[in-house]
Amino acid sequence: MNTQAPIGVFDSGVGGLTVVKEIMRQLPEENMVYFGDTARVPYGSKSKKTVLKYARQIVHFLQQKEVKAIVVACNTASALALDEIEQELTVPVIGVVEPGAKMAAESTKTNVIGIIGTESTIKSGIYAKYLRKIHSDITVVSRACPLFVPLVEEGLLEDRITDDVIERYLHEFKEYGIDSLILGCTHYPLIRNAIARYMGQEVTLINPAYETAKSLKQMLAEQNILNKSGEMAQYEYYVSDGVEKFSSFAARVLPCHVDQATVIDIESY
Ligand code: DGL
Repeated sequence: MNTQAPIGVFDSGVGGLTVVKEIMRQLPEENMVYFGDTARVPYGSKSKKTVLKYARQIVHFLQQKEVKAIVVACNTASALALDEIEQELTVPVIGVVEPGAKMAAESTKTNVIGIIGTESTIKSGIYAKYLRKIHSDITVVSRACPLFVPLVEEGLLEDRITDDVIERYLHEFKEYGIDSLILGCTHYPLIRNAIARYMGQEVTLINPAYETAKSLKQMLAEQNILNKSGEMAQYEYYVSDGVEKFSSFAARVLPCHVDQATVIDIESY
């Protein structure tokens, strides 16, 4: 295996860039190829069959880029498609759900954890499944927050409308005494300041992106495929539509200069 080969990272759109950012921080030497399925976003309201079909096409595209590992930087795709694509691939794959659950289980003192995500992620019950594997006595309170994705996509990160929607979705968590809240959708870390303001200091917000990058590092080390070239990492970005919107979003989220993304016909993979 070529240790300098890139890591393939994909998401339904721009949200996975929050994971890319964390990988850049924790693994600055790793090259990356990112694919955002901007033509078919959102995945969060789609069925397992559809999301699995999309994930398989993306993985096929990433394999043609000769990636050495794949990060499913989308909670919905991790919830609905990770098990299947893991079995079908020869390169190592990780999703964002298991690392996020691990981080939340380590953070909670009250053993009452809140989870927010897309409709499909919440319906899958995947976070609760991983959490209960770690601690059987954890109480899980979950809620789908479908309006958060378009608010983030529209760039309304600090806005009265976003604050109102946060209150509408999250007020019930205050009644349950949660002390940790998993941001179980890749878009949500982008409104974490507004969520933190509403939930208050006693609730720790869990961003699975941090733990995912940590788990990725561990996995690459175990497989002996960490890039130790000492060279500056190269990044390539691909999308299925809306290249300008993607590029301006990426420039706001990522800490480095973002080269123009390339549009590909993902349906042909
Ligand atoms: N990236 C998706 C996730 O993390 C959110 C956006 C969507 O619904 O596709 O679940």
